[in-house]
Amino acid sequence: MRTTANVEQHQAWNGHEGAHWAQHQDRWDAVNAGFDEPLLTAAAVGAGDHVLDIGCGAGSTTRLAARRAGHGSALGLDLSAPMLARARESARQEKVANVEFEQADAQTHPLDPAAFDAAISRFGVMFFADPVAAFANIARALRPGGRLAFVCSAAAERNEWLQAMAALGAHLPTGGFGTPGGPGMFSLADSGRVREVLAAAGFTGIAVAGVEAYGTWGSGAEEVADFLLDSGPGRHLTGQVGPVDRERARADLVAVLRGHERDGAVRLRSAAWLVTAHRPG
Ligand SMILES: C[S@@+](CC[C@H](N)C(=O)[O-])C[C@H]1O[C@@H](n2cnc3c(N)ncnc32)[C@H](O)[C@@H]1O
Repeated sequence: MRTTANVEQHQAWNGHEGAHWAQHQDRWDAVNAGFDEPLLTAAAVGAGDHVLDIGCGAGSTTRLAARRAGHGSALGLDLSAPMLARARESARQEKVANVEFEQADAQTHPLDPAAFDAAISRFGVMFFADPVAAFANIARALRPGGRLAFVCSAAAERNEWLQAMAALGAHLPTGGFGTPGGPGMFSLADSGRVREVLAAAGFTGIAVAGVEAYGTWGSGAEEVADFLLDSGPGRHLTGQVGPVDRERARADLVAVLRGHERDGAVRLRSAAWLVTAHRPG
């Protein structure tokens, strides 16, 4: 890939975080699949469309968009080599021929101008060092009148998995984890900020709607706790304490997750913003 303006993100998504997502993509898809239908419907992806999937990761939304696009196509763009390897393999296995994947920084990559009818993202647009520059780059890649639709993390109140992570606060330095703003996954959790960024990037018709979905995180509280503690945020927090505090934190997390165990599954509600806008026609 060419240069990246997002060096830390590039390292994270090509390091443990990317490997964790690539290895556990089926689980992440079970967690986030409830957002797919609202996202693709909001983007109005239809036959013949050319779709750009930003921060596509292992590409499940890219493949869904490609299927809807029929004789059109979908391009998935992502920083992460391990997740793109998984994306290409899944597309090959599922025989989805009208997808391509490219390792690139969506903020800086010179996308073909006016090449896409729609740009979509499932939780892949929150990590830009310069969000206005990134969304302006995406806007240029849309044809005039082209549509943008994405889901991004909303704040903690309705997010049960975030509340579960908050249970770690007695033993781990959770600090402002989950607070809107700042870099990282909650950078667009303030809907006013979303509107400001998209307007400054040249989008119009901006709408931000709350959307919620239950995701299946695993089969039991113990293994979901281990999964969460091994994910990027979990490792970041547990890496700052010793084994005794880590074990206490895990026990508290297991106790919270027990409350969400039902019929052999742990299901948690996630809250997101469903954001739509378009390039002026
Ligand atoms: C939370 S994951 C979501 C992945 C995928 N959309 C999904 O729903 O499974 C965020 C993704 O955004 C990608 N990403 C972060 N910053 C990026 C950037 N500047 N350009 C392209 N991709 C980026 C990461 O590599 C990662 O795959």
